[in-house]
This record gives sequence, structure tokens and C-alpha cells, in this order.
Amino acid sequence: MNFEMKIISGTANPPLAQKISKCMDYPLCAVNISSFPEGETFVQILEDVRGRDVFIIQSTIPKPNQALMELLILIDAARRASADRITAVIPCYGYARQDKKDQPRVPITAKLVANLLNAAGANRILTMDLHAGQLQGFFDIPVDNLFAYPVISEYLRSLHLKDAVVCSPDVGSIKLASAFARRLNFSLATVDKTRMSGTKVKATKIIGNVKGKDVILIDDIISTAGSLTEAARLITKKGAKRIFACATHGILVDPAIERLQKSPICRLIITDTVNQDLSKTDFDIKTLSIACLLGQAITRIHSNESISSLFD
Ligand code: R5P
Repeated sequence: MNFEMKIISGTANPPLAQKISKCMDYPLCAVNISSFPEGETFVQILEDVRGRDVFIIQSTIPKPNQALMELLILIDAARRASADRITAVIPCYGYARQDKKDQPRVPITAKLVANLLNAAGANRILTMDLHAGQLQGFFDIPVDNLFAYPVISEYLRSLHLKDAVVCSPDVGSIKLASAFARRLNFSLATVDKTRMSGTKVKATKIIGNVKGKDVILIDDIISTAGSLTEAARLITKKGAKRIFACATHGILVDPAIERLQKSPICRLIITDTVNQDLSKTDFDIKTLSIACLLGQAITRIHSNESISSLFD
């Protein structure tokens, strides 16, 4: 068996795949991805992957339907080309927020996507800051869920904030915020949020003291920015000094930038799990790269080494 690595990039986030390849000092595998005139996706892996350890990098956001289908087709192509093992590297795992049946007649898309990845032929999943850690249980194959906090907290440390408070914009993100608070040795607060629709939320209460302090709001995802900006408004009313907002996955769909501009948030910190062109945005956004972290994880999976020790 030739257990060489082959790293394939889908089209959802080529800059991230290139950075991963650079960090690993390992080339990307040549692949042709195109569309038929009616919109069906065509892929062809242009190098031999028989017996190889194949990693397919594809965030399933933005354009989740297109990106997911392309990922499934790439997995199918690798499986039919006799790859020995296929790892779907999904830096931002879309459809994860629909993870329970909390209203009548609604789907659980997080589980549906897990089933589809399984059926296509993925043998492992490598992802980052899953919306809820327990989504790993939706798979019957190994899932490595990396955390962006080493990269984000290193940046936060470089700001030399004194006596700051880490705050989650809703109770769902409190575990994440608590991990940051511990790591940075800051206190913890949380906002009580009610979601009215996909784009509207209301922040009602704060648990914790933010008066006169710098506050770091932490969430896994920033999509329309409703959650972070609503929380920031309430925190300002309670007397906070400056507000920084962080999210691993910067999805940033309309009206996110407009909301950020009108909000008391002074800087947004995101990672590059989602491909974004922010060159024309005048809001202060710092994008940190998680490419080397993903690259290290790929190397360790390939050589059967521990992933958890990356976070010690
Ligand atoms: C919700 O449970 C997530 O953790 C985020 O708070 C949410 O997805 C962010 O969405 P938006 O930016 O649209 O409020």
C-alpha cells in the first residue's frame, strides 16, 4: 500500500487550502472542478489516489448547498478511485445549527449532513468549533473537532487588556466563553438572548459584572451579527468600556457589516474558516489564520498521532 497523503481542495475556500499546504510544506493535489451547463457539478481528481490517505478540504459555507454537494462528489470520486482513507476536512461545518427537533415538522440537518458524508464514503471528519460538541455523536466515524481558541486567545493576549470580562452573547456559547476566560484569566459573563427569527434576536439580561471593563464577546459563528451587536448594546448600557467581538466562523451575511458599523463593538476578530473578501469593508475586522493548526492536525491524523495534545 502507498499510504502517501493527497490533499485536495474544493472551491469553497481555496486561499485557506493554499495556506494549509504552505504550512505543511506539502502540495495540493491537482483536481478539475467545473459545472455542466445545467449546473451539475463535475469533478476529476487529476492524480493517482489509489491506496492513498486523502484529505478533502471544503467548508460547507458560504453557499452551503453547492459546497456540500461538491464535497460529497469529491468524496465519491476519491472512493471510486480506491483511496485507502478519506478525511473530510470541514473547517466550517454548515447546517450545524439545525441540530434538534425544537418545533413540529422540522428537520435535523446536522444529522442529515452527517449521514450524507457517511454515505458518500468519508472515513473521518476533521472540523473546527462545531456549533455544539455533541454533534460528533451524529457520526459513526471518528470526528476531530479542533478549537480556534489557541489562535484567538494568543491575539487577545497581544492586546494587553487589563481586568477584562469574557462574555457569551447567549447561553449556548457559555462553554466557549468559559474556556477563553480560563485561558486568559479574565472573569466571565453571559447575556440572555431570545431569537425571534433567523435575522432578529433580543438581548434581555446580563449575568455578571461588566461595568467599567473591557468586554470580549465570544461566539462560534457571526452570521447576520444580530447576536453579537444586540449583546454589545446591552453591555454598553450596563457601563462597559470597550467591546471586542470574536467568532471562529465569520459568515458575515447582510446586514452584518451595517449592524457592526452601527454597534458599540470596536473590533471584530474572526478566523479564515470561511472565505471572505473584506478588502472593501471599512469596519475594523481582524482575520486570524487557523491554517497551520489544521495543517498540524492533518499531519497528526496521517501519522496516527494525538490531536488533543495540540491543545495542551
Ligand atoms: C447561535 O446559536 C450561534 O451560536 C450564533 O450566536 C448565531 O448563529 C449567530 O448568528 P447571527 O450573527 O445571525 O446572530
